[in-house]
Amino acid sequence: MTTLVERLRAAGCVFAEEEADLLAGAARDDGHLAELAARRIGGEPLEHVVGWAEFCGLRMEVGAGAFVPRRRSEFLVREAVALAGPGAVVLDLCCGVGALGAAVAAQVPGGVELHAADVDPAALAYARRNVAPYGGSVWEGDLYAALPASLRGRVDLLVVNAPYVPTQEIGFMPSEARDHEPLLSLDGGADGLDIHRRVAAGSAAWLAPGGRLLIETSSRQSPSTASALGAAGLATRTVTSQELYATVVIAEA
Ligand SMILES: C[S@@+](CC[C@H](N)C(=O)[O-])C[C@H]1O[C@@H](n2cnc3c(N)ncnc32)[C@H](O)[C@@H]1O
Repeated sequence: MTTLVERLRAAGCVFAEEEADLLAGAARDDGHLAELAARRIGGEPLEHVVGWAEFCGLRMEVGAGAFVPRRRSEFLVREAVALAGPGAVVLDLCCGVGALGAAVAAQVPGGVELHAADVDPAALAYARRNVAPYGGSVWEGDLYAALPASLRGRVDLLVVNAPYVPTQEIGFMPSEARDHEPLLSLDGGADGLDIHRRVAAGSAAWLAPGGRLLIETSSRQSPSTASALGAAGLATRTVTSQELYATVVIAEA
């Protein structure tokens, strides 16, 4: 009889043994395991099937219809934590399932005042659960329009992983992203930077004096991301991680 590992390997899962263990761990019984295995073999992201993604050593709840937090975004978290003082007001804008904000909150000694916002209610259903252990508040709406007026001028750290894939490149993404994550979470417009420009333009009203905005981008797009932030009156620097293949622009009010 063909084993689950063999079926996963035949379906193209490189880490078939590990995946089989994770699927078995998520299943309530044999029937449920068969159901989960069929979804994975059918091409759904493993994280959607098991219901969680590991991020910065934490389990973040995630599921069908939501963007899966990427390992490379752990670099942005690392940079944000290095800049955060105890009690910092942290806003995770375009938060998806809230992984970035939750991971920052988990790592800052003394904790932070955490806010997370996104336009997609499906993602926010997970974000609510992921930020709850840190007393986080979740807001729904289009970028800054989601936020309560009481946050104006108070944000010490604005962390952003917004969509930045150029529209023409969506078709080249792996099927797990293209077919299973919302287009809204991937598509950044013609040059990928539509949301970056809007985040930059609106940031001054929400950042505290000396507050920082950290935004994930690609190395190719980073000069344009930085120039959008510069045009909004912020001083920028770009940091990179070879290990995580990650680029972050850090801007200061
Ligand atoms: C690349 S995903 C990243 C999610 C999360 N920051 C992470 O790294 O896991 C981008 C997120 O931006 C959200 N988004 C796209 N357009 C938005 C808008 N106009 N206002 C608020 N959120 C938006 C999407 O719903 C999606 O959750």
